[in-house]
Amino acid sequence: MAKIKVIETGDGSSSLYNEALNETYHSSHGALTESRYVFVQSGWDAIREAKKEVTILEVGMGTGLNVILMVEQALKYPDVTIKMTTLEPYPLTAGLLQELNYTALLTDELTPYFEQIHSCNWEEEVAILPNFILTKKKETLETFIAPKNRGFDVIFFDAFAPNKQPEVWSVENLEKCFAATIDQGIFVTYCAKGQLRRDLVSVGYDVERYPGPPGKREMLRGWKK
Ligand SMILES: C[S@@+](CC[C@H](N)C(=O)[O-])C[C@H]1O[C@@H](n2cnc3c(N)ncnc32)[C@H](O)[C@@H]1O
Repeated sequence: MAKIKVIETGDGSSSLYNEALNETYHSSHGALTESRYVFVQSGWDAIREAKKEVTILEVGMGTGLNVILMVEQALKYPDVTIKMTTLEPYPLTAGLLQELNYTALLTDELTPYFEQIHSCNWEEEVAILPNFILTKKKETLETFIAPKNRGFDVIFFDAFAPNKQPEVWSVENLEKCFAATIDQGIFVTYCAKGQLRRDLVSVGYDVERYPGPPGKREMLRGWKK
């Protein structure tokens, strides 16, 4: 396994640094700030209104920061059921997860849920809350087969940067995401690369450049219209 160490980001929240890739798991300007802005605010908040059930696919579970932030949203909106599927081919060790400071920065109420999202079984639907159902899948997006019955309202595309892991951003993977997005659903990512924007358009998304989180001018959001 690659050498990974805990770092502190600009807003005081932890992230991880993968030495082999020379890449961090989040923006150095602030992991918590970035996740809240890119995925919660620009993804979930953009589509949740008037919905009783929201399905989310995350590409790259990593530290579970996006997952715990969605548990927080499930507590905030008890009338909405969130079904989140998250893909992670290389789960982190318990030792590393314990060194992260997310539970100290979030409300105490979330601490047991952070532990549960990491300790629960892979490949199973687990009710973390009555209205938060998590399915962790230990696999890549390349091998993932999306369920046929219902697509995803939102895709959180949180892979390592395209120059570090180009294979994850392949047109084939983006086509898979588009096919798995429901009508009026969205694809959000922190990345703002021109090539990605063109690839997202080529697979069918209506793409908007959207103001980025602190330290990043823009991010991309694609709508399936
Ligand atoms: C930028 S980090 C994810 C950050 C994560 N969402 C978090 O909040 O910690 C990218 C993650 O994608 C995972 N990954 C690597 N290759 C992948 C693939 N082919 N498909 C899905 N995930 C992949 C990595 O192991 C890593 O955990």
